Amino acid sequence: MIVGAQWGDEGKGKIVDLLAQSSDLVCRYNGGPNAGHTIVADGETYKLRHMPSGILWGKECVIGAGCVVDPEVFVEELDDLGGRGLPVDRVRLSGDAHLIMPWHRAIDRGSERRLGKLKIGTTRRGIGPTYADKAMRLGIRVQDLLDAKILRQKIEVALAEKNVWLERVYGSETIELEELAERYEGYAQRLRPYISDTSLLVDRALREARFVLFEGAHGTLLDIDHGTYPFVTSSSTLAGGAAPGLGIGPTRIDSVLGVAKAYVTRVGEGPFPTEIDGPDQERVRDLGGEFGTVTGRVRRCGWLDLVALRYAARLNGFTSLALTKLDVLSSFDELPVCTRYRLPDGIETDEFPAHQSDFHHARPVYETLPGWTEPLDEVEDLHGLPDAARAYVDFVARELDVEVCLIGTGAEREQVLAARELDAIARG
Ligand code: GDP
Ligand code: IMO
Ligand code: MG
Repeated sequence: MIVGAQWGDEGKGKIVDLLAQSSDLVCRYNGGPNAGHTIVADGETYKLRHMPSGILWGKECVIGAGCVVDPEVFVEELDDLGGRGLPVDRVRLSGDAHLIMPWHRAIDRGSERRLGKLKIGTTRRGIGPTYADKAMRLGIRVQDLLDAKILRQKIEVALAEKNVWLERVYGSETIELEELAERYEGYAQRLRPYISDTSLLVDRALREARFVLFEGAHGTLLDIDHGTYPFVTSSSTLAGGAAPGLGIGPTRIDSVLGVAKAYVTRVGEGPFPTEIDGPDQERVRDLGGEFGTVTGRVRRCGWLDLVALRYAARLNGFTSLALTKLDVLSSFDELPVCTRYRLPDGIETDEFPAHQSDFHHARPVYETLPGWTEPLDEVEDLHGLPDAARAYVDFVARELDVEVCLIGTGAEREQVLAARELDAIARG
């Protein structure tokens, strides 16, 4: 199980790609095209939205029931990756996943516009409205694509209500039934070959003792239940979410690898205690190339926050940690690391505040670690790290009481230092 430990974009795609080599199946269980996972392999850059990051190795790739699927993006991705020679015929899509419809995207945009200064800063891909309709039991599922009559009927029923919303609540354009039904019938024909009973497929793989990798999208602090609500996404981003998101029992998950950047980024609105004040913010952003994969927005940058990371370790039950983008920190004399928060009443804590107001007003308390200036992109093993870089990693491992098993030293697939054999890491 591989899961984001911060606010997303931790480099999960790269880590999943790396460990997918030693796996048979790679499974996404949450989210949709709000995810953007970048993999750089042999000088080629792949930006994955729906597809599990095992696709580059030709692994069987599952998109589970907990995901939401935008057929337009899905088809685009199939064409793009297929056109680049990747084996997209091994993609399996759950019939229980929900479809993102054009009204979901329109409502996402309209809602953000109406919220004005209070907006969430969503990716505007219709994610929240799709999960809301799922909970309302008004959603259209992938399996509805299997029957043209059912599909048309469901679109008609939903559209009758959605058009009233679009017009009256958001002052947006309404959507025309005939054109939409026809377009979706076209998508249906493209998607049908991929639809499978993915819960059964994963279960069988596990019974046959094949190696299954679960790929979390987004990050711990974006979780709908335990994240920094309301500035979160609408799915379960935690490791435990893989069980309902795929339709397997929680006992089938036997190890959890958290992925954290050596610093922190956040896209969109919401509190961010360690967000950097002053020119270092831009410096980290430029050095790390911190611009969103999905929306191109600038990512807000902050120093490493061990209070939040300790919370992520608690929520996910990390058995080990990958610390990515350590190379980006290679030009700072000193590196602040947040080990505690000071709350409004002056009390200091190393636990994540349970109440939103405490978190909103929490001030970071830093320990300053020495920096290093040697570049890391050519370092070949852990012993080759500059002493200060090694001390930085050891500090994180000690504070969290978790093994750091992988260290990212560049965007390319090979630019990673492993504490153990990759096979052993992939098997937990
Ligand atoms: P994800 O959403 O968690 O998969 O992460 P993204 O792909 O959105 O963002 C991570 C970015 O950092 C991508 O552009 C990766 O190519 C890049 N990246 C991943 N690991 C490293 C690393 O160790 N060093 C550097 N410099 N870049 C990395
Ligand atoms: P990956 O998988 C970073 C953020 C959005 C916004 C909030 C809600 O690439 O790490 P949504 O469109 O989901 O309703 O937006 O969640 N967000 C992400 N930020 N990486 C992601 O995915 C994200 N997915 C959602 O920026 O703040
Ligand atoms: Mg991303």
